[in-house]
Amino acid sequence: MHLCLYAPELGYYVSGAPKMGESGDFMTAPEISPIFSRCVARQVTELLVDMKDAVILEVGAGRGTMARELLDHFMRCGIELHSYKILELSPAMREIQWQQLHQHPYYPSVEWVDAICEDNFSGVVLANEVLDSFPTNRVHIVGDNVMELCVSLGDGGFTWGSRPADSSLREPAISAFHALDMALPNNYTTEINRLVAPWLESVLAGLVRGAVLIFDYGYTRREYFHPQRCDGTLTCFYQHHRVDTPLDRVGLQDLTSHVEFSSIAEAARRVGADVYGFTTQANFLISTGIEESLTGFDPGSSSFVKRVNEIKTLTLPGEMGDIVKVMAVGRGLDKPLLGFQNSNMCESL
Ligand SMILES: C[S@@+](CC[C@H](N)C(=O)[O-])C[C@H]1O[C@@H](n2cnc3c(N)ncnc32)[C@H](O)[C@@H]1O
Repeated sequence: MHLCLYAPELGYYVSGAPKMGESGDFMTAPEISPIFSRCVARQVTELLVDMKDAVILEVGAGRGTMARELLDHFMRCGIELHSYKILELSPAMREIQWQQLHQHPYYPSVEWVDAICEDNFSGVVLANEVLDSFPTNRVHIVGDNVMELCVSLGDGGFTWGSRPADSSLREPAISAFHALDMALPNNYTTEINRLVAPWLESVLAGLVRGAVLIFDYGYTRREYFHPQRCDGTLTCFYQHHRVDTPLDRVGLQDLTSHVEFSSIAEAARRVGADVYGFTTQANFLISTGIEESLTGFDPGSSSFVKRVNEIKTLTLPGEMGDIVKVMAVGRGLDKPLLGFQNSNMCESL
């Protein structure tokens, strides 16, 4: 998965072809409508309100659409911006982000960084639909055996193979079911992502005050390892079609797997951070005022209809409304966050 997505020159996110947006393979929330980023901006503004020299760090900024909307929002509201950092793995995406941002009046505050190397910073870290593109491992459970699914080269191209999983995969797989008081399911495929928790720990290591806001397709542990989800969540997007053939069109299609949020919460708590909120994208957007985005539109106009359709895509169950979750973890905050005021499902984690 790492090679498919990030191999120099050939990986999906590294080659220059369009990814997200109408001409690409899939739509992310900021590409669906600016109202998504405006809701995020309200949450970020609330977080930054009395922070001095606050840093915003956006990880995996895609086409830079959310960054541009946030800068617009700060400018409109007369909010001074100390620093907007972008951490982006793909040189091709960085170039597109620069194109979006370099003429913005707030551009002098924008900086691209190569690593999460901030020490003792206050601010907000944003990751929208990024963790689902962290390469994952796939395991297959048969009887008491946990096998790692691997890719080999057969006569007709890539094929699946398997080998006994090492302890770094076997233990998390077994302990997930143990934590749920469930017996190991038989003939069950799932994913174990070994990269997400260390990533979060490294982000939180430097955060003194503020929050990491994670938006992604995902589930609690109980939903993720549900007995009926017996083929995992690994999936691919190609020209706006969802396909379940990860070994095809290597480097030409997106590969993604859902996020298991209970382990993210545990990783945060392990390094002494707090979990401030966990909710669905719909509830987050409603709490941060998505309905206000209809104010001023003539209800008979085509722009009103367009906006209503965007709201539906972002909030309806069956669209992005409940499958995308929002989580806030961090340190040093003393009041509830705007985005979780209507619904906070931390206890379900
Ligand atoms: C699905 S896109 C989402 C883009 C954007 N956030 C949006 O919502 O439109 C994932 C982005 O994350 C980047 N990415 C993936 N893993 C990353 C990592 N470990 N660090 C920084 N960027 C990463 C990819 O290159 C890509 O730009």
